[in-house]
Amino acid sequence: MPAEKWRFAGYRRRESEVKIHLVIIKPAKRIHGSIRLPGDKSISHRAAMIAAIADGVSRITNYSTSDDCATTLSCLRELGVQIDRSGAEILINGVGKDGLRAPRKELDCGNSGTTMRLLAGILAGQGFTSTLTGDESLCSRPMQRVVEPLRMMGALVSSSDGRAPLTIQGRDSLKGIDYELLIASAQVKSCIMLAALNAKGKTIVTENEVTRDHTERMLKWFGAPIATGNKADHARFATLTGPANLSARDVSIPGDVSSAAYFIAAAVLLPQSSLEVTNVGVNPTRIPFLSRLGALGSIEVTDTRDEANEPVGKIRIRELRFLEELESPMKIAGSQIPQLVDELPLLAVVGSRTRSGIEIRDAKELRAKESDRIAATVENLRAMGAEVEEFDDGLRVSGRTRLRGARIDPRGDHRIAMAFSVAALIAEGESEIKGADCVGVSFPEFFDLLEAVIER
Ligand code: S3P
Repeated sequence: MPAEKWRFAGYRRRESEVKIHLVIIKPAKRIHGSIRLPGDKSISHRAAMIAAIADGVSRITNYSTSDDCATTLSCLRELGVQIDRSGAEILINGVGKDGLRAPRKELDCGNSGTTMRLLAGILAGQGFTSTLTGDESLCSRPMQRVVEPLRMMGALVSSSDGRAPLTIQGRDSLKGIDYELLIASAQVKSCIMLAALNAKGKTIVTENEVTRDHTERMLKWFGAPIATGNKADHARFATLTGPANLSARDVSIPGDVSSAAYFIAAAVLLPQSSLEVTNVGVNPTRIPFLSRLGALGSIEVTDTRDEANEPVGKIRIRELRFLEELESPMKIAGSQIPQLVDELPLLAVVGSRTRSGIEIRDAKELRAKESDRIAATVENLRAMGAEVEEFDDGLRVSGRTRLRGARIDPRGDHRIAMAFSVAALIAEGESEIKGADCVGVSFPEFFDLLEAVIER
């Protein structure tokens, strides 16, 4: 009888959709195969929003299948943008930078911080009032970081003690600002650059720690007068002189490298695995986790090319050593954090198997994500038998741990659910992931694709 691989329990049907509540994961021997992933979530948000305020029709292919990116489309529709979606292909009828219409209801950003923070930038320069809200997690996350620069630009924004709902009284008289990011956040940088499109004069955003640069790249692709560069002290800057119009462009979205990370880590942790991820984004601000994992296995990036101003390529993992030989990857801290931010829970899991473990510091931002990712990672690693020390700004995990199967509570956070699914594959015994349907926030196909490449 074939071994039972996955056992799903607790189905709930809502309309035509099946929600998975609990996933049981058995250990795996290796990963083998070639995968192609749905479009990158960060890039899809930007492509949709920027196309919506461009002049003309843009065709976006391989648009992210995530719930978060669907949320962005529904907010844009509520703002009067006509969007035709057929699977992963969407046509956006751009209304121009002043053409959005006042929404008839609150804009519900669901669980998506990127939707809320980037849309806030766009709405600040529109001639109407709008309110951005979201689910319980999103309404507990810090928004002062976007409220403050938008107010400096002349926008009228009110929040509930620095949290959503945010009410934005749009103004057509925003002014450019010279702003140094206080928190290394691509969402804050993007919010300001999008507001700059409708502001008079030059906006400069300086970041002392480099964050993902998809907004800068996408704005350039749509013809915005944006320039980027390095300052003498290694800080990076982006400038844009507004008001500026955008012209429709077609965009092909690369596969999501943050989704790929779970498969790559599993392939690195399971000896004799081989995996190829094709057509995946390899933007340098997103892939530093590869060199961390590359210290463990052999990872190659090949076939790189540019599509819609974003580097795309193929990632291959092969010729792995045996687990016993794994070197410790690491201490991760300081300016390394922003470019690894979404992969930190996963790297903590990986660290539990290496020779001397892993220490992550200067990562307090993790407490302000979809869940408190430091607490969630510590709690679940401990449940699997790892020795973990928790700090206010990070954690330390002892190495050479043989994780054991456990009941995992991802706290409704997609990245915790996926990181601990990888942990479950290398554990002894069965694990259960509670509320596993939260993976849909970024990667609804996660369990199906994982199942397709696992050998037991
Ligand atoms: C994102 C930026 C990061 C990241 C998030 C997506 C983006 O957040 O954690 O998943 O698309 O700009 P911060 O900018 O708040 O660090």
